[in-house]
Amino acid sequence: MAIEPVVYGASDRPPRGDYARAGADYTCTQDYAAYTAQDHDTYARLFRRQAALLPGLACDEFIAALPSLGQRPEDVDRIPRFDEVNERLLRATGWQLVTVPGLIPEVPFFTLLSERRFPVTDWIRRPDEFDYIVEPDVFHDLFGHVPLLFNPVFADYVQRYGQGGLKAHALGACEQLSRLYWYTIEFGLIRQHGGLRAYGAGILSSSGELRHAVQSPEPQRLPLQLERTMRTRYKIDSYQSTYFEIDSFQQLFDLTEADFSPLYERLRGLPELAADQVEHPAALAA
Ligand code: PHE
Ligand code: FE
Repeated sequence: MAIEPVVYGASDRPPRGDYARAGADYTCTQDYAAYTAQDHDTYARLFRRQAALLPGLACDEFIAALPSLGQRPEDVDRIPRFDEVNERLLRATGWQLVTVPGLIPEVPFFTLLSERRFPVTDWIRRPDEFDYIVEPDVFHDLFGHVPLLFNPVFADYVQRYGQGGLKAHALGACEQLSRLYWYTIEFGLIRQHGGLRAYGAGILSSSGELRHAVQSPEPQRLPLQLERTMRTRYKIDSYQSTYFEIDSFQQLFDLTEADFSPLYERLRGLPELAADQVEHPAALAA
């Protein structure tokens, strides 16, 4: 079966998961019995390290929702069962986690999101990949993405993104739209408490990038603007050189509400921008 990871950009390696386990919609069941004691320990250590870093760097909504995963940093000792998280998530926002073997192609991915079903990889990185893994594993998918699915506005945004993805696919604009996913759902920053906080899962699940994204003077930070964001390429194997900021999830929702068809049309006539293309923020005003 040809797997074309789109969200994380084209990869030259075959994906790591076992896709023979998956059905036609790419979902499977969480293979809980397959986890070793080492797997559970890796998850617990990642959770504790990352939870300790969050104050001052993660957005309020993420910190508030983290306990909804059902574990506290003081006593986390295992990978959660997705079914247990699902009971709480269904009550909060009507979303459900579904298990996948890894990255899945764009149409099944968008379809799941449009149905308020979030694909979560069940396997976990090896201990030698503790600090960094290119492909999303259960720690990235669960710890990084799931807390904000408990936030009603953000949860609606992700569903809208899925619906928009199916439309973008029909219009040949997946690459443009996937940059919006990248720079919001994966690497978004939000203005809070007179400063910046992270809400993107790629940042929140990375110990190094969390500090880099929020505090380092190195990267460029621009206000989120659809056209600029969808023209900007991204890096899948290093920290981002450009981040885009929002004021609130409601602003993100409102900004992406309009029909993107004319925007895709306009983007066809505009050159792409490098990930580190410098821009004066004033050029993005309005
Ligand atoms: N408004 C977009 C469209 O018309 C859909 C969308 C919503 C995309 C939210 C991303 C996020 O295609
Ligand atoms: Fe992700």
